[in-house]
Amino acid sequence: MGWPSEVVNLVLPLFLLLELGTHCVAVDRSSFPPGFEFGFSTSAYQVEGAAHEDGRGLSIWDTFSCIPGNILGGGNGDVAADVYHRYKEDVQVLKSLGTDVYRFSISWARIFPGGSARHGKVNPKGVQYYNNLINELLQNGIEPFVTIFHWDVPQVLENEYGGFRSKRIIDDYSEFAEFCFKEFGDRVRKWVTVNEPSIFATHGYGNGKNAPGRCTTNGGNCAAGDSSREPYIVAHNLLLAHMRAVKIYRSKYQQKQKGVIGISLYADWYLPYSSSKLDVDATQRVLDNKLGLYLDPLVFGDYPYSVKQLIRDRLPVFSEEESKEIRGSFDFIGLNYYMSSYVMDNSTSSDPTRKSDIASNPGQDAPENPDIPDTFATTTSQKDGIALGPSEGGVEYWISYPRGIKLLLDNVKTKYGTPPVYITEIGYVTLDNGQPLQDILEDTERIQYIKNCLCYTLQAMREGADVRGLLLWSYIDNFEWNNGYSFRLGLHYVNYTNNDLRRIPKASAIWFQQAMNPREAPTAAILLVP
Ligand SMILES: *[C@@H]1O[C@H](CO)[C@@H](O)[C@H](O)[C@H]1NC(C)=O
Ligand SMILES: *[C@@H]1O[C@H](CO)[C@@H](O)[C@H](O)[C@H]1NC(C)=O
Repeated sequence: MGWPSEVVNLVLPLFLLLELGTHCVAVDRSSFPPGFEFGFSTSAYQVEGAAHEDGRGLSIWDTFSCIPGNILGGGNGDVAADVYHRYKEDVQVLKSLGTDVYRFSISWARIFPGGSARHGKVNPKGVQYYNNLINELLQNGIEPFVTIFHWDVPQVLENEYGGFRSKRIIDDYSEFAEFCFKEFGDRVRKWVTVNEPSIFATHGYGNGKNAPGRCTTNGGNCAAGDSSREPYIVAHNLLLAHMRAVKIYRSKYQQKQKGVIGISLYADWYLPYSSSKLDVDATQRVLDNKLGLYLDPLVFGDYPYSVKQLIRDRLPVFSEEESKEIRGSFDFIGLNYYMSSYVMDNSTSSDPTRKSDIASNPGQDAPENPDIPDTFATTTSQKDGIALGPSEGGVEYWISYPRGIKLLLDNVKTKYGTPPVYITEIGYVTLDNGQPLQDILEDTERIQYIKNCLCYTLQAMREGADVRGLLLWSYIDNFEWNNGYSFRLGLHYVNYTNNDLRRIPKASAIWFQQAMNPREAPTAAILLVP
């Protein structure tokens, strides 16, 4: 017995439309399975401020931000969004948005101003702050979701042994991680060991755009570094540090505290520029280098074949024991998705049409240098003069492509055995170039982008991806690393003028609030807007 033809006639075109990515809109919370969690993410240096208060030590980001020229428009995290003083008000903002989980990071140097217990005592005021925040969240029905390391290495450890360039960081990091489990783990049930190890490695040590600002000295602005080796050494040490923290959590805390632990990987998507074997293979090399470098060890116990082939003796190796231990060292994988681009084999990138596509929009990685190191591949955002998607909010290279989240989730499901996933970041940027406030507040493109991402996530889940939750970056504007305060990604505007710092809801906040608190009975899961 087949399906009645009316059903086929209805379902098939719907399915095709969805597959083609024609305007698909997930309406609200009720579209998702019960228990699916929504929330927001932030990190300590980007929102807390109070950088020189209550005994906090300095991190590499304090140092880096103070060097003129490092941050677009100047600026640093000394005040940021002042969440350190405004956390109670902000918990109410989160609550009003219908937040289930709130992911924030713990500033290592606020807990250990000297970097570790070897260098002095724990800072009780720092510990108190996080206890206050956690308790305030729980009292308001919001579950804390804690990132242990979100890029802010204590400066003392950078000075002493080069931070993550040295294996010595593994002991100090895992001591900090264990302190967090012991102190906060009675109430925190979701842990991320490391946020975006790939960006920390490539931007901190490859192109020098992020702290600690290292890169090969000829050609770059860096005072010191080795872009061909250090990113891989740092990546390796981040993975080993992650592995150690998971081991400690599993052996001493997990059973009693009943939490889960994972890692958040930066995971933009890449599509082949053409269907030629050269471009398809180049795309795989880029995915291996960007995502597989981390996900392959976690799932299979070793780096991807193409990465080993291309990087050779510049890539550290896992011992047999490490390989066994890193394999499976997660309860979930966090994915941070922002944009997508095309990839072409770099032996073909000098063909005239290809060249003009690269020149007019070189893609996401480094607008001034579209080649991705160690991949023999070049990125571009357009093909035959047609962009993969519109640029977001005035940032030319930041291509909006919500369908990328589905392609990413499909790939992680198929290639890595359907691991449980949290989308730990999704967001839409607006460049603040002094436009009228009203233009920033009426962020209809952000709403549409988030809706589309929800829809594509739902589609991936229907096709078998195991997604447990989705967190937006973020509920407020914040200090966007080397882009300073000029990149706004919040659902609330933060008024930085004269440190006014009031939060003003954008249209997206009002929409999200309604989407998270649907008043009506469950609606049709997906609406198609022609
Ligand atoms: C291709 O990329 C490699 C590194 O990935 C680089 O060494 C080489 O110069 C590039 N070739 C061209 C033609 O751009
Ligand atoms: C932002 O803060 C400044 C300084 O306090 C104030 O003059 C201005 O009106 C504020 N803007 C908004 C939209 O609240």
